[in-house]
This record gives sequence, structure tokens and C-alpha cells, in this order.
Amino acid sequence: MRSISCAKVSNKKISVFLIASIFLMSIFFYGTMLKNTFSFISTDIENSDKNPSTTLNTINLAKESEILSHIIFDSIETDLELTYTTIIVISSHVDNRNRRNMIRETWGSIFNWVTNEKYLIVFVVARTTNARAMIEIADEAKIRRDILYLDIFEDFYLLTKKVIIALTWANKKISFKTLLKGDDDTYMHLDNIIKFVKKIDVTDGYFGNKISNAYVQREGKYQVSKEELEKDFYNPYCSGGGFILTNSSVHKMILLFDLNKIFRIDDAFIGEIAFQAGITVTQADGFFMYNSGCKYEKNVIVSHPNKDPECNNFLLKRSLIDNGKLLRDFKLENQSCFCKNAC
Ligand SMILES: *[C@@H]1O[C@H](CO)[C@@H](O)[C@H](O)[C@H]1NC(C)=O
Ligand SMILES: *[C@@H]1O[C@H](CO)[C@@H](O)[C@H](O)[C@H]1NC(C)=O
Repeated sequence: MRSISCAKVSNKKISVFLIASIFLMSIFFYGTMLKNTFSFISTDIENSDKNPSTTLNTINLAKESEILSHIIFDSIETDLELTYTTIIVISSHVDNRNRRNMIRETWGSIFNWVTNEKYLIVFVVARTTNARAMIEIADEAKIRRDILYLDIFEDFYLLTKKVIIALTWANKKISFKTLLKGDDDTYMHLDNIIKFVKKIDVTDGYFGNKISNAYVQREGKYQVSKEELEKDFYNPYCSGGGFILTNSSVHKMILLFDLNKIFRIDDAFIGEIAFQAGITVTQADGFFMYNSGCKYEKNVIVSHPNKDPECNNFLLKRSLIDNGKLLRDFKLENQSCFCKNAC
């Protein structure tokens, strides 16, 4: 059955909802209620300022607090004494608990890696119309302490907002050297990530699978209207399944964030902001963004798509054999791709 699940990998479609405004309003009020209900696990962002605000002017402070006001709760357990080597921010649909659990139990677990550097995994989820999902995510957050829950809608077209809010939150609350933005269907090789980020020698870094001269589509799933974005070609950007920013880049970007001036393609949006901030996009090895055959390569930093738990296990096992955490397995090592017909 392997070939079937492998073939299916890229065929899943994200369904898109149009929500009536009345409904949006009722959800808005529900959100306020939830915020109060879950205040026991919310941290008061205003009072846990990591950066001296002197670097931000008043307009930015107002924008920043507007952006942060979309956080219903922040359950993240952090060590405030620590500067994390990397903070991994993962956009995850609230209903994808299975994917989050898979990550926590597999590549997200420190027991699988040899590095001693500190990293933090944060899942950024938003709401749906399903009240039960909200209760469940609150329970999950209480136990796992790795969820940032937002009062925006789970919608492909609102992923940009997730990224804006998550980066603003990280910049405000956590001390880190680098930030890796990923999705819940991305495999990540923590040892290689750490190796990569420790070698970064630029202040304003932005690394990943670089896409240049992409045409702004006006139709279909990736359509962006002229009102959203006037230009016909995107500035260079990195695929959103996994890219790395240095702390200085994040800091410069958040000064330009405005939730009212976004377009819906989240990775291209980050490229646009980087351009405005004077940050250069750098193509880097190991960012495998179109790996539908689930091929393992020793230098893998991130691999996407990674929806199939068996593909994930294959990549992890091969990584662990290479870092000495698992005994050698010649049969497995002879296999380059999980999807056997892919290589
Ligand atoms: C940013 O990262 C550098 C190392 O790459 C570190 O020395 C510095 O403390 C970090 N800044 C903040 C605000 O965390
Ligand atoms: C792995 O491949 C080599 C040749 O490349 C072969 O000699 C060996 O028998 C294979 N091992 C297994 C366990 O399949």
C-alpha cells in the first residue's frame, strides 16, 4: 500500500471557506469569551517585554500590540534565561493534532538528536467554527505547552497573518539566534539545522529554497488580486515549508508588519518584507521543498511534503542511523526514497 500513500501525498487539497459576516461577528465575541476563559494559561505579553521598547517608535508599538492582541492564548513553556539557538515556528491547522503529535514524538524530540543546543518548537494554530476543536486545543495546550492559539481563522488565505503574529510574538517574548518557519507537514533534521545555523555568519540572514521571478497569479488557488499586490512578479523568497531567519532579520521585518497590508501568499509576503527591509535571500542546500518521493539525503535540513507517518519514520530512521542514534540497517540504507518508484 506504500505506493498508494506515496502517490497521494501531493494530491490533497486545502478546502477554502467563505464565511458570512454575521458568523464572523459571533466568532469575534466568542473569541473574547475564550480569551477570558483561558486566561489561566495566557502569559501577559505586555508585561514580559524582552526587548527595550526604545528601539520601536510609538506607531510601531501600537501596531505591535494590535498584532499581539490576536493571540487568544500563549501556552508556550520557555526558559527566559536562555537564548535559543533556534526557535521553530510551525503553522499548523488546529485539526491536525495527529501531525503535531507525530512531530513531538519523532523529529521534534530531543532524544533523537546529538546536539546540546537549545531549540524550541511552537505550533501556531487558529480557530475554526467548531467549538469542540477550541476546547480540545486548550486541553492539548495545557498538557503540551507548545501552542500559540490565534483568533484568526484557519484559512489558507490567512496564513500570512499567522506568520506575522508568530514572528512578532517571538521577537517580543523570546531570546533566540535564529528562527525557522515551517509547516506541520515538513520533516526537520535538528542536528543539521543546528549545524547550519551555527555556521551563519551574516547578521541579516534569510535562507532556504529560493524562488526567483515567480509570477503573481491572478487566478486559481494562489491568486492575488491587483488590490492586494500591484506588481506582476514577486521579489525573491524562500518556500514557506521551511526557511531560516536570523534574529536581526526578524527584528527588522516586524517593524514593517501591518495586518492590514498583507497578501495571501505567506512565503512570498515574507520575501516582499525582506526586500523592503534590505535583507538578501540566500539559496541554501538541504531545503528539499518538493520531495514528494520522500527521498532521504544526508544533508537534509527540511523536507516537504511529509504528511505520511511512514515517510516521516523513514526519514527519521535514516537520519538516526547517520547520527549514530540507531544501529545500522543495510536494507534501509540501500533505499534512497521511501516511495520506491520515485528513485
Ligand atoms: C541574536 O543572535 C546573536 C547570535 O547569532 C546573539 O549574540 C544575540 O544575543 C541575539 N540577539 C537577541 C536579541 O537575542
Ligand atoms: C545493499 O546494496 C548492495 C549493493 O549496492 C548489496 O550488495 C547489498 O546486498 C544490499 N544489502 C541489502 C541488505 O539489501
